[in-house]
Amino acid sequence: MLTLGLMSGTSTDGVDGALVDWHPGGMPGWGRVLACAHRPLPAPLRAELLALNHPGHDELHRASLAAQGLMAVCAEVVEAVLAASGQAAAAIAALGLHGQTVRHRPDPADGGYTLQLAAPARLAERCGIAVIADFRSRDIAAGGQGAPLVPAFHQALWAQPGQDVAVLNLGGIANLSLLPAQGAVTGFDTGPANVLMDLWIARQRGLAHDADGAWAASGRVLPALLARGLADPYFARPAPKSTGRDHFHADWLARWLDGDGAAAPEDVQATLLALTVQSIAQALQAWRPGAAPGGAPRPLIVCGGGAFNGALLRGLQAALPDWAVASSAAHGLPPQWVEATAFAWLARAHLLGEPGNLPAVTGARGPRILGACYPV
Ligand SMILES: Nc1ncnc2c1ncn2[C@@H]1O[C@H](COP(=O)(O)OP(=O)(O)OP(=O)(O)O)[C@@H](O)[C@H]1O
Ligand SMILES: [Mg+2]
Repeated sequence: MLTLGLMSGTSTDGVDGALVDWHPGGMPGWGRVLACAHRPLPAPLRAELLALNHPGHDELHRASLAAQGLMAVCAEVVEAVLAASGQAAAAIAALGLHGQTVRHRPDPADGGYTLQLAAPARLAERCGIAVIADFRSRDIAAGGQGAPLVPAFHQALWAQPGQDVAVLNLGGIANLSLLPAQGAVTGFDTGPANVLMDLWIARQRGLAHDADGAWAASGRVLPALLARGLADPYFARPAPKSTGRDHFHADWLARWLDGDGAAAPEDVQATLLALTVQSIAQALQAWRPGAAPGGAPRPLIVCGGGAFNGALLRGLQAALPDWAVASSAAHGLPPQWVEATAFAWLARAHLLGEPGNLPAVTGARGPRILGACYPV
């Protein structure tokens, strides 16, 4: 079975696509990634999607147009992936379409919903391929967070019998999948990965991101500011939990910096990087304090765009001496394609009538088949 995953994450940087040929027996030999492609979002579309994260005028109309704009980028990614793989549209069983999150308020007190902008009917019509979309809402309806959804795929790919493994996705938000030597997989969003660093370098230097973390590495961590960041109640909240731009946004940054307006910009960036590192390290140490029996470091497999931030990986390794930090590339799948591959996997699960969520991760009442299908 061939499915194609389309991911556009909280960084709002672009759409990633991965075409996967799934092994009929599942594990081992789960499948093969045939081709991948990325297309950046045009600047006006990116600005509109970011604006739609906040209440504004005439949102329903604007959201519908933005969804159409996003589908045009998704269609380009599909065409690029098909061309690179030599596959015809007719050979693809389904596209797994994430859509762009503009609101994530899974807790009943906040509304109990999540919203990924998408126009799946339009994409199905344009590509001539069935589209499966809206993967998160069923899990929320069942009392879950609707996120993270990738741990089931991380488990299928990287769980090792007799060995604790952690998988860390560094997108806009950071999420951990905890794959224990024995017992149930858990996982949750730890907090920001790149979202705040991206905001700060965009404002200070007009750049989309801090390449390799070089700017952060040129600054000094400000301990009082770091402590104030780590005091955000989200970090101490027990799992299941998930977060996004609804919580970690420009206003969060402004409130956090209040009183430190004179800090050197590169020191603020160094402190934001340290906030990402420390919040992740605290979560991992709470799961597995100390070294593994025998003392061998446990694998920490890192994926997402943050895997290209050398300063971030060095910071994580320094904070986590009991873990062997390595890019997912060293474990068989390049970091920028893991999430898109996971949505190809979720599309496959839908087609097979298999659940895509892990109730121990999301907090849902039970396993659920995720997504809605728009047939070709
Ligand atoms: N060379 C690099 N150096 C430093 N950071 C990078 C580099 N390349 C990408 N990034 C970071 O990775 C981010 C994009 O990562 P990715 O696409 O995995 O996140 P995402 O779109 O939020 O996805 P998701 O929500 O699924 O995790 C960029 O916004 C940037 O911060
Ligand atoms: Mg992205």
